[in-house]
Amino acid sequence: MAHNRHHLLLLLLAVFAAAVSAHNITAILESDPNYSQFNSYLSQTKLADEINSRTTITVLAIPNSAFSSITQNHPLPVIKNLLSLLVLLDYFDPTKLHKITDGTTLTTTLYQTTGNAEGNIGSVNITDIRGGKVAFGSAVPGSKLASTYTKSVKQIPYNISVLEISAPIIAPGILTAPAPSSSLNITALLEKAGCKTFASLIVSNGVIKTFQSTADKGLTIFAPSDEAFKAKGVPDLSKLTNAEIVSLLQYHAAAKYLPVGSLKTSKDAISTLATNGAGKYDLTVSVAGDSVTLHTGVDSSRVADTVLDSTPLSIYTVDSVLLPTELFGKSPSPAPAPEPASAPSPTPASAPSPAEAPSPLPASPPAPAGDVPAGAPSDAPSAEAERSGTSPKSASVRVEASFAVLTFTVAALCAVVFPTVFMS
Ligand SMILES: *[C@@H]1O[C@H](CO)[C@@H](O)[C@H](O)[C@H]1NC(C)=O
Ligand SMILES: *[C@@H]1O[C@H](CO)[C@@H](O)[C@H](O)[C@H]1NC(C)=O
Ligand SMILES: *[C@@H]1O[C@H](CO)[C@@H](O)[C@H](O)[C@H]1NC(C)=O
Ligand SMILES: *[C@@H]1O[C@H](CO)[C@@H](O)[C@H](O)[C@H]1NC(C)=O
Ligand SMILES: *[C@@H]1O[C@H](CO)[C@@H](O)[C@H](O)[C@H]1NC(C)=O
Repeated sequence: MAHNRHHLLLLLLAVFAAAVSAHNITAILESDPNYSQFNSYLSQTKLADEINSRTTITVLAIPNSAFSSITQNHPLPVIKNLLSLLVLLDYFDPTKLHKITDGTTLTTTLYQTTGNAEGNIGSVNITDIRGGKVAFGSAVPGSKLASTYTKSVKQIPYNISVLEISAPIIAPGILTAPAPSSSLNITALLEKAGCKTFASLIVSNGVIKTFQSTADKGLTIFAPSDEAFKAKGVPDLSKLTNAEIVSLLQYHAAAKYLPVGSLKTSKDAISTLATNGAGKYDLTVSVAGDSVTLHTGVDSSRVADTVLDSTPLSIYTVDSVLLPTELFGKSPSPAPAPEPASAPSPTPASAPSPAEAPSPLPASPPAPAGDVPAGAPSDAPSAEAERSGTSPKSASVRVEASFAVLTFTVAALCAVVFPTVFMS
């Protein structure tokens, strides 16, 4: 009987483990070679991370035969835009698809969240047409509904539905290639985003040259806002050597393209441009809902806004200057353990306490209430969520739905497990 009890416990644990593990679009699409190109581009553009970090979504998959003509003729940023338009921010299984109220609807896509989409460009029109067919097209008025639903690939109810459609959905202008990252004026972008101090520091210390030359190969910049440099506890830069200032500035960038979805799903510490043989200079990430926080081992900072997300360059503003332990930690090994596993923690991970990370320069303390321009993560929806147009109502419905599933599972298990355990 003890043996049995052990098994039941394992079963219970397995159910809880399953409850926290999210879907993996790469693994879902891998089962059919017809989606190999589509799947490979989801990974290359990092959209797979974005998809895995969301729930209540629908992915419209395109078979290789309909996809190759597009991929041959367009650069990666265009393919990313095109693919973003195929990720619907709502759950459509085949039944729902065939029972659309009034036979036609518009639904928001991931493209709407990129900040590039104006008007209806980031939405898709789904219409039930004659003969039981379902057609898809851009929501921009006058667009053709040139793509049709062909088959269901996979459903994990209310988290993700994968459907095959016959052809990509083309919104007006979506095939126009953006300017290459190397031709963007990073300084000007940073100034416009309220990071003038950081911009002038990277120019005067020559770090901008590294940024511009890396921008085409994959680069992510975490730019502290001007407010961040005025906060209490920010080190006096005049007391640092030139080499130390350069390391501090390089610590605010990674030689990798990391859009929000990739930040949210990154399990390992992120190396920065300051990382070298002598110092790790890395960052860890924690996620609470839509809020992403970076941890240095000395201090922490919320990722505030996306300034730019254009493969392979992403630029964010951050609320605090990131202080690497290599420069500001007293003990040589105060780096915190990475956040556990992939599960987004339900509570915001707090900054390491001063006791854990002794520092000659205290980590910037939270500004007094009323002084905080952007608000704390808990009381301000992220800019991304605002742009994505997800209403708080649909978000709460989603939360309630997943909670209901979990509650039901636990209740059902208790009904099975507890009587058995007590009887033994
Ligand atoms: C749906 O997603 C939630 C949140 O990631 C997860 O807890 C839940 O287990 C998922 N449901 C299924 C059936 O995978
Ligand atoms: C998703 O699945 C792919 C292919 O099976 C695998 O390589 C990848 O590591 C998985 N990703 C996650 C986050 O588990
Ligand atoms: C791949 O596509 C072809 C042509 O559309 C189809 O005949 C075949 O069944 C598909 N393969 C799988 C594994 O679904
Ligand atoms: C979707 O497109 C069709 C055809 O252009 C149009 O008649 C319909 O009104 C559109 N649906 C919505 C909800 O705008
Ligand atoms: C980039 O913008 C900055 C500030 O707006 C300006 O001073 C600089 O000349 C520009 N650089 C280039 C190469 O255009």
